[in-house]
Amino acid sequence: MKSLYTRLSIAFATILAILLAGLGIVLGQFFHLIDVEITGQIQLKYWYFLSFILTVAFLLTLFIGTRVIRQYTNPIDQVTYTAQMIANGDNLARTPIDDRYSNDLGVAVNQIARNLQEISILRAMEKERLKTLIESMGSGLLMFGREGSVNLVNGVFENTFSFRREEIIGKTFKEVGLPEGIERLIEDVFLTEQVHECQIQINESYVSVYGAPVIGRHGNWLGIIVVFHDITKLIRLEKVRKDFVANVSHELRTPITSIKGFTETLLDGAMSDELILKDFLTIIQKESDRLHLLVDDLLELSGIEQEGFDLNIRKVSLSSIIEDAKKIVSGAVEKKKMRIISEVDETAMILADSDRLIQVMVNVLTNAVNYSKEETTVRVGVSATMEGTTIVVEDEGIGIDKAELPRLFERFYRVDRARSRDSGGTGLGLAIVKHLIEAHGGTVKVESEKDIGTKFTFFFPERKM
Ligand SMILES: Nc1ncnc2c1ncn2[C@@H]1O[C@H](COP(=O)(O)OP(=O)(O)O)[C@@H](O)[C@H]1O
Ligand SMILES: [Mg+2]
Repeated sequence: MKSLYTRLSIAFATILAILLAGLGIVLGQFFHLIDVEITGQIQLKYWYFLSFILTVAFLLTLFIGTRVIRQYTNPIDQVTYTAQMIANGDNLARTPIDDRYSNDLGVAVNQIARNLQEISILRAMEKERLKTLIESMGSGLLMFGREGSVNLVNGVFENTFSFRREEIIGKTFKEVGLPEGIERLIEDVFLTEQVHECQIQINESYVSVYGAPVIGRHGNWLGIIVVFHDITKLIRLEKVRKDFVANVSHELRTPITSIKGFTETLLDGAMSDELILKDFLTIIQKESDRLHLLVDDLLELSGIEQEGFDLNIRKVSLSSIIEDAKKIVSGAVEKKKMRIISEVDETAMILADSDRLIQVMVNVLTNAVNYSKEETTVRVGVSATMEGTTIVVEDEGIGIDKAELPRLFERFYRVDRARSRDSGGTGLGLAIVKHLIEAHGGTVKVESEKDIGTKFTFFFPERKM
């Protein structure tokens, strides 16, 4: 489109030309007033002169006129151009402002452009923030627009269901290929415009699905949103809890049943026989000892697992800890004619809670003795490096099958239930060991070969003394 300046100039030139031509024609009528007898030659000369004067007047007026027009139209043309640029999306376009002339329109348009630029920066930031939020929310997200097709998904959703964004955007919920339970939930939300929730299992994991209608500020329906939350860990924890309760009840029931049975038999008359009485009371005592041990271990474990569990960390000598532990298990060691050989540097020190560390060593040494044949040897070794201290307890016992190793530190996990029970074990010893070592910031590792022996390795990373 031509600029305002060009259009006004053309209009001005046309009007001027018409006016001057009219003036020329009018002046032409005055020839006869000068003289009646005027020759054609003089007339021609007069015409030439008139035309010349009028042309000069035209050019001069046109020159001055366009200058004036330019002065007034130039700012308008510039503003128009800037406005067109802004309309085309260029928020950086500005009208040059000449300080000599006031140009309120230009200033206003520049202000509009600046505001627009700020708004679009804000919008881009909002968009980016929303995108980051959606991507990092940790839950899968799927959104359907008003017309029922997918218009937003996030990375978590893509990973959970192994879909690619491009594949599903624009599809309806029936076309996406979601598990049946989820399809039904989405359909319910669409039909009832109410929140719906369900839980589904996908392969190994459990997902909680939450579907809700999206209602705009004025009550208008904008679509629906579906959030997928991975609750596998929660379900597993729940299972561990249930298993634990079942295990504890089972462990408690055995000695209680036995105590109850023997007491009833005694009360039914067996106590008159002194031999039987002594026999039964010994069993009852043994069973109550078991109960006592079990409850002690349970309390111990729950204490360690408590939030505020505190260690009394001191600089302690490893050789004295191992000697103390050896003394505690010496009775069992002698009974089985076994030996515990320890090679520990007298000066080896560690930052630890000495009572707890003795407890760990006693638990592991008791196991080494319980699960070994008579006259075998248990070796305890300590080595220290820049990274930390390692304690190794190695026996020549019955060993553990490779398949059992990963579950060894679970509460109540026992390779041979009957044997463990005979040895007086509660099945909680290694669980306590693991918790205590981890409370010290250390790690535990077990290696074993069936019928050859088992090796427990504890590593305590170096701490500042
Ligand atoms: N040194 C070892 N040699 C062989 N088996 C072991 C050894 N230490 C532990 N185990 C196995 O690990 C199980 C769990 O040990 P633990 O938690 O101490 O419970 P328990 O009360 O049965 O001793 C034991 O029942 C036993 O089967
Ligand atoms: Mg044990």
